[in-house]
Amino acid sequence: MQLFLDGSEIDKIIEYNNIGILDGITTNPSIILKSGKNVFEVIAEITKIVKGSVSVEVSATDREEMYLQGKKLSAIAENVTVKLPITWEGLAACKRLSDEGTSVNMTLCFSSSQALLAAKAKASFVSPFIGRLDDSNQDGANLISEIKKIYINYGFNTKILAASIRTINHVKECASIGADVATIPVNVFDKLIKHPLTDSGLKQFTNDWNKTGQSIL
Ligand code: G3P
Repeated sequence: MQLFLDGSEIDKIIEYNNIGILDGITTNPSIILKSGKNVFEVIAEITKIVKGSVSVEVSATDREEMYLQGKKLSAIAENVTVKLPITWEGLAACKRLSDEGTSVNMTLCFSSSQALLAAKAKASFVSPFIGRLDDSNQDGANLISEIKKIYINYGFNTKILAASIRTINHVKECASIGADVATIPVNVFDKLIKHPLTDSGLKQFTNDWNKTGQSIL
């Protein structure tokens, strides 16, 4: 499973990218607002750091302006993926941009019928928002399973990019089901490595090693 960061925190992007585990980035208008930066500047900065897909969302809601904005955003860098909302207007712009070779991420996906249409429109990615479904007492992980089954049935190439990740358990569920990507906010990403038994075990090993009086280097 590919791991994307869902955010624009440059320090964290550099940290995880330097470790070699960061496969891409997703942003959305709320993330751009939170960054306090110009969208073209922050995406140009991120695409210089991360070589994988970097999603940036259009602001338009009609197909023609979505297309024009998509062309302008994709010109920032070759690894830009254009995010479009799953509406009929978004699907029309997706098919036109995809046919021209632009990578498109169909976002705000909350049903398998929407995901089916995203694949038909040749989207590179579809973003089911599992956290928001859970927030409304629906089953976000089940949507990932439904989409996975449909995409396997028909050999669709669109990648399932699990989004709206709220917990480590969401990441585990997405990996177990077989999502292609999980895009993870910093507050969850930081926790992925944490376990108290690892910390206590390492402390014990370190203490016991120090008592041996030996050195390796
Ligand atoms: O970026 C898309 C998605 O991850 C948004 O998540 O937490 O606003 O539901 P959230």
